[in-house]
Order: sequence, then structure tokens, then C-alpha cells
Amino acid sequence: MGETAKISVAGKDVENAVMSGTVGPDVIDIRKLYAQTGMFTYDPGFTSTASCDSAITYIDGDEGVLLHRGYPIGQLAEKSSFMEVCYLLLNGELPSKDELGTFSHTISRHTMLHEQLANFYSGFRRDAHPMAIMCGVVGALSAFYADSADVTDPYQRMIASHRLIAKMPTIAAMAYKYSIGQPFMHPKNDLSYTGNFLRMTFGVPAEEYVVDPVIEKAMDRIFILHADHEQNASTSTVRLAGSSGANPFACIAAGIACLWGPAHGGANEAALNMLHEIGTPDKIPEYIARAKDKNDPFRLMGFGHRVYKNYDPRATVMQQTVREVFKAMNVSDPVFDTALKLEEIALSDPYFIEKKLFPNVDFYSGIILSAIGFPTTMFTALFALARTVGWVAQWNEMISDPQQKIGRPRQLYTGATERDYVPVEKR
Ligand code: SDX
Repeated sequence: MGETAKISVAGKDVENAVMSGTVGPDVIDIRKLYAQTGMFTYDPGFTSTASCDSAITYIDGDEGVLLHRGYPIGQLAEKSSFMEVCYLLLNGELPSKDELGTFSHTISRHTMLHEQLANFYSGFRRDAHPMAIMCGVVGALSAFYADSADVTDPYQRMIASHRLIAKMPTIAAMAYKYSIGQPFMHPKNDLSYTGNFLRMTFGVPAEEYVVDPVIEKAMDRIFILHADHEQNASTSTVRLAGSSGANPFACIAAGIACLWGPAHGGANEAALNMLHEIGTPDKIPEYIARAKDKNDPFRLMGFGHRVYKNYDPRATVMQQTVREVFKAMNVSDPVFDTALKLEEIALSDPYFIEKKLFPNVDFYSGIILSAIGFPTTMFTALFALARTVGWVAQWNEMISDPQQKIGRPRQLYTGATERDYVPVEKR
């Protein structure tokens, strides 16, 4: 046995193997700990727990490094495309020109939805949150695509993966159209993945929609920045749901539900709402004080991260993209100035420095999405659209792992010990 970790507890000395990956922290293999000691480990927020091994994404939180299959996010954002990053996340290597062409063609042929799924939208109020619609429609996909729901069949897993990646833009665009009372736009497959999404969202049947290449590139880059992020809450949700053998559509619906929370993907919507509430830079000190006040539940949305204790590399690219899009569109937004000022003040404040709170991926994204024309309620749905490839890649990795078993954590029980039932007349 190589390096080991020795634990002396309950009068016992136990030894467990230390496992090393290719890069990053080693892990202590505690799978036998309960059998060895009769004790569980205790880590409610999984702050020190590796739930799996994975070869897809690596994050060095201290250095602000994010790699997808070894490629730095900054290089992928600058040089790659979302379709190429999808191929990379799913297959582990960058595609050749022909491989990318075949993959893109395959995905484009799955962009249409079963026509009866359109009926789901009319069951919602027009002001339903797009994430509520996404949870419902994606969860229902297994009722229409049962021919790709058998998780034991690699071919069906591949088809389900392609269907999910391809149909999320259609589902998201339809949620937006439904909310504004415009007709649904069918996919137009001679457009790029992202161009197709923009046309389904902002095009109307009454006239031709011309995709703006600047917006298309910015949107494609935003999708790349959101594609995957190691074992975050929603990805862990997808893995746990998948560990029971649930069909892939149900697993992704579970991931969507988890992403919706304001502590996770819902932060992009909350961050822009917060910036609008702050309004002008002179109000920033008041909100910084609230964020630091232990008695005030307010937090700076778009700030802080469980893993990054340095600047989130995605936020760096996102801020650069705001500048590029604003310049190209010849627009400005006072909210961006407020955001930049807020970042400057926060990063010079001892509270944020000591707690290593930096802007994360959600801090600037809403500013661009708003400039492109999306309402804040669509922001998390766009995050879910992009993150679907990460969820699907991680789900496939888990399902095809021969050691895979159902995830079933234990607990520290703090409830009542055994006691006898008391009839109501004696209570
Ligand atoms: C995403 O995991 C991922 O990879 C997620 C994600 C992905 O791509 O999948 O990166 C996407 O979810 C980004 C995070 C988006 N969420 C937000 O922006 C919401 C605001 N941020 C937080 O609520 C918080 O920072 C979390 C949820 C992101 C991280 O929380 P942790 O790691 O559990 O840290 P914590 O809540 O224990 O905070 C540590 C300390 C606390 O103070 P103390 O109790 O130690 O005194 O920092 C403080 C917190 O009060 N703190 C903040 C703060 N975030 C943490 N104080 C003010 N404002 C904040 N934003």
C-alpha cells in the first residue's frame, strides 16, 4: 500500500489508503471507515469530500484555474466554440474538423421538439418563471423519447445526450416566446447552434431574422463559460439522481431544479436585480455594509465561491465580453459602471479580502444578457441550457463507471431515542 492515512479513534488505530489524481488534492479512501470504526465522517456541505473521481473538469480554486479536459477556460473562450467544447466534454479530446462537422450536424438534427410538448407551455401562466417551465418540460421528455431512456444501453445514452444538448435551446426559446405572447419559432438548422437559439428567441415569423455575428459570438462564449464546473451542486444532483438508474431526462430535470437556487445558478438573476436595486455607485457602501452585517441575510450576489478563493477565471472573460459587446453595439449601461465600482470597493475591503470573496461567473453575466435583450427571468434558464452538456458528460462518466453504485449518504442522528406510543387520551 502506498501512502496511508492513520486514524486513531474509539480505541482503534485504522489505516486507509491515500489516492492521487493527475493534479490537485489527494484523497483519503474512507470507504471502509464505518466497517473499521463503526463511525461515519461528517461533512454536511461536502466542504472536504470528494464524491467521485472524474476526468472532465479540474478547478484550482486558490490559483483561479479552470480546465476542461486539460484546456484552460480562457483559451477555450477565446479560440473554441460551444459545439467544440460540447464534443470535448463528452469525448475527452478536441475534434478534428470532420468530427466537429459530424457532431454539429447530429446535434442540429435533434433540435426539434415533439409537437405535443408545445402543449405543455399553454398549461403554464404567461408569467411562469422559465425555470419552472424548464423543470416541467425537461422532466416530461422521457414520456416522448422513451427510445433513448435505457441507461444500460450506450447507444441510447448517446442519443439521449444529443437530444438534451440539442433541445435545451428550443425549450428555453419557447419559454421566452410563451412569456411574451409571441409564436414559437421552429429551429432553422442551417444556422449555428447559438445562431439557431438567437433566431428562435428573438426572431418572428413575420420577417427574416439575421443573426448578428457579434451577439452570436458573445452568446457562444457565454455558453462555453457555463458548460461545466466539476462537482457543483446541480452536477452532484444529476449524479445522485443518475446513481439510482433514473432516466437521463429525469436526471437533467433534477439538475435544473437545483441550479435554480439563488446560491447557485439563480445568482445571475439575483446579481442583476441587486445591481439595479443599488442603482448608483454612491449607494454601494450601504450594500457593502449590509453584506458584512452578520444580522443581515443580504449577500453580494455574484460574489464568493465554495472553490474559488481567487478571481473566478470565468468572471474575467465575462467582464471582457461586456466591454466587447458594448463597444460593438455602441451601447453603455450605468449598471456596468456600478458593477465595476462595486467590485473595486469590495476587493479593497478587509472583510472580502479576508474571506477571499471575488466576483464569480454570475456577477457580470446578467449585464451582457440584458444588453442582448433577455429579461432577468431568462438568465438561469440560459445557464441551464449551457450547463446541460456538463451535466450530460458527468452523468455519462458516472453511468459508465464499473464501480458505480447508488449514492446513499448516512447521518448524525439527533432525534428522539426509542419510546412507546402514547394514546391520545393520555397526552
Ligand atoms: C455558482 O459550485 C460551483 O461551481 C457553482 C458555480 C458553477 O459553475 O456551477 O460556480 C456557479 O453557483 C456560483 C456561485 C453563485 N452564488 C452567488 O453568487 C451567491 C452569493 N454567494 C454565496 O452565497 C456564497 O459565496 C456561495 C454559496 C457561492 C459559497 O458559499 P460557501 O462556500 O458555503 O461559503 P459560506 O456561505 O460558508 O461563506 C463563507 C463566509 C461566510 O462568512 P462567515 O460565516 O465565515 O463569517 O463568507 C461569507 C459568509 O457569510 N460570504 C459572503 C458572501 N459569500 C460568502 N458574504 C457576503 N456576500 C457574499 N456573496
